Order: sequence, then structure tokens, then C-alpha cells
Amino acid sequence: MARLDTSNTLLAATETPESVGVESSELVVRWPGGEELRRRTIWLRDNCSCPGCAHPGTGERLLDTAQLPGRPAAESVRADGAEIEVVWSDGHVSRYSADVFQRRGRPPSRRTLWGSELADRLPEARHEDLVTRDSTLREWLSAVDELGFAIARGAPASEGEVLRFVELFGHVKETNYGRLFDVRSVVNPNNLAYTGLALGPHTDNPYRDPPPTLQLLHCISSSAAGGESTLVDGLAVAEALRARSPEGFELLTRHPVTFRFRDAATELEAEAPVLELDLHGDVRWIRYSTRAVRAFDLPEDAVEPYYDAYRAFGRMLADPAFQISFKLDPGDLFIVDNRRVLHGRTGYEGEGTRHLQGAYADVDGLRSRLAVLSR
Ligand code: OGA
Ligand code: ZN
Ligand code: ZN
Repeated sequence: MARLDTSNTLLAATETPESVGVESSELVVRWPGGEELRRRTIWLRDNCSCPGCAHPGTGERLLDTAQLPGRPAAESVRADGAEIEVVWSDGHVSRYSADVFQRRGRPPSRRTLWGSELADRLPEARHEDLVTRDSTLREWLSAVDELGFAIARGAPASEGEVLRFVELFGHVKETNYGRLFDVRSVVNPNNLAYTGLALGPHTDNPYRDPPPTLQLLHCISSSAAGGESTLVDGLAVAEALRARSPEGFELLTRHPVTFRFRDAATELEAEAPVLELDLHGDVRWIRYSTRAVRAFDLPEDAVEPYYDAYRAFGRMLADPAFQISFKLDPGDLFIVDNRRVLHGRTGYEGEGTRHLQGAYADVDGLRSRLAVLSR
């Protein structure tokens, strides 16, 4: 009888176990047909869902794991229909359904790597659809989750619109640049973004701790020649580097670099590796800014290998095979996951104006909105 699928999911959760018992500190349940499932008693006691252990209204836990005995002893265990009842030695009674034996495991990654081939199927939506249709907003937000960016066309080209837009899914993150910041050529810029110079692919504000996880740029006016937006999937580039040069990849994950921003009123500095990994070895946070990075402070024998790796990564980021570019017309905006997708622009000059407004936000708010829309 196939009671388990390959992911260890209990399929017939309504059947009555043949026997239940405790062996040492494990609860052992045997099903007709010979299937046997085990759970440690500490885990079971910790995951009791009675109203004394988990608040029935909010679902929050009421029990404190630290206060439990390390090997809770069961006084008695019995199957009650499809449920298993445990009376603990302190008299507490817990009831478990068979799905307590399901292991959650790691959810599959939602991230899809991309390169220049994405150019003819950019994740875009009309602003009016995003504000009036939940299904459009849900798809658009899930593109940010999957691809690390999305484009909205045809919002009002009015100042401050970017802040109203953020309210569709999250909360503005205010910084020393304000709740929003103006990106245009000014006479005495405190940032090269406020000139007409081209900006290579970068993540914003790596000198913050933590950096903002989302960035939006909204076009107010754009009549100057040039100033196209460019995006690169830093994750795709990092994985390509890992495949091409595992040692180089590893150097970028292991040595921290320092990023800095300073002007008359501000002094920001943060230290982190260019490629930050999570506990599974996946790239979780990319920080890369040729403008904000400080001189590397490396052990002497790591200097050349590190430069080799850093230069390889930087050249791959600039490789057209990894890049997409598009023009923002007045009213258009894009959002990027600032931990993953690097943005930049081509230079602009001459007649006409170019004025963008930017804002930061964080990905937790976006994920929450997406999850609620997906209920
Ligand atoms: C920025 C930036 C890009 C642009 O302000 O952080 O990268 O298109 N601007 O002006
Ligand atoms: Zn309980
Ligand atoms: Zn930027």
C-alpha cells in the first residue's frame, strides 16, 4: 500500500494506525500494511496545538520551548480514529493528526535565471490594471519574486507618484536621500546618479546595513537623448561565474569588501562580501557598486586571485548576453530586487531633460501582499 509519496507526504491521513507506542524518546506509529513513522517526543511536545500551547485566534505559539524537558515522557499513547492522543507524564494532553509526520522540507526556489533573451517578454503591466485588478497586481508582484524586477507602464508622470505606487504592496523605506529622491543632472551632485554620466550595473546603497531590498525608479520626464535603463540578473551572472570558475566564485563569497557613502551630512559604511550565500550555499544577497566600493583590504596572497575573480564578475555583468535595456517614458517605472538584479543606465546629454524619482522599500511587504493576494 502506497501511503507515502516521495516527499514523505502522508496520503491516507484518515486511516487508523495499527499500533502506536513510544520507543526510547520516539513515538512510533505503525499502519496497516507495515508503514512506520517516527517522531521524537521533544518535537511532538513542542508542536502540541492545543489551545494552551497555540493561541486559537492568532495561531501564535503560547509555549516556550526552552521550558520543556529535553526528553518528554509519555504516560500513555493511543490511536483515536485517525488521531493520536498522547498523555504526557505531567498530565498535559496532546492530540495529533497523521500529517504531523509530514516533513516540510525546503520549498522549491521561485527564482528563474534570465539573460538578454528576456528582452522580448519583459514582465510589464499597465498602471491602470495594477491599481484596479488584483490578479494583474498578483502576477506583477510574483514576477518580482521570480525574475527580480517588473515594469509598470503609464502611471501618472507626476511628482510623488512613486510613493503612491509603493503603497500598492508595501512601505516606503526612508533614507538620508529622503522618502523619495530626484534623479536628474544637478550642478553640485553628491552622487554620480545626479549627473548625465552612464551608470554601470550596480546595486543601490551597499553602504547601508542592511541595504534596501527593493528599489523603484519612476520617470517624470525624458526628452534628452540616451538615458536608457539597463538591468542584469546578478544571480544568473553569479551562477555562470560559479560554473566557469568555482574558485573565483568562492573568493567573492569569502572576502568582505567595504562600501562607503559620504556627503556633508552623511557618513555610511558597511562591510559585506560581493556574493553573500545562505546556509544552503545559494546566493542570497549581491552587493556591487564600482562607485561605492572602497580599496580592497585583502591578505597579500589573495590580492591577485581576488582581483581576477572580481574583474571576471564585473565583465560578465557588462556582457550584453546578460543584459536587457529599455526606455522609461514619462509615467513608466520599474522595480528591482536590489539584492539580486543590478540596474544602470546609458549616459545622456544635450537638449531636453531627464527626471526620475526613486524610492526604496523592502521585500517582506511585497511578499506579504503577494501571499494575501494569493490566498
Ligand atoms: C540611481 C540610478 C539610474 C537612472 O539613481 O540609483 O541608478 O536611470 N539611476 O538614472
Ligand atoms: Zn498543548
Ligand atoms: Zn542606482
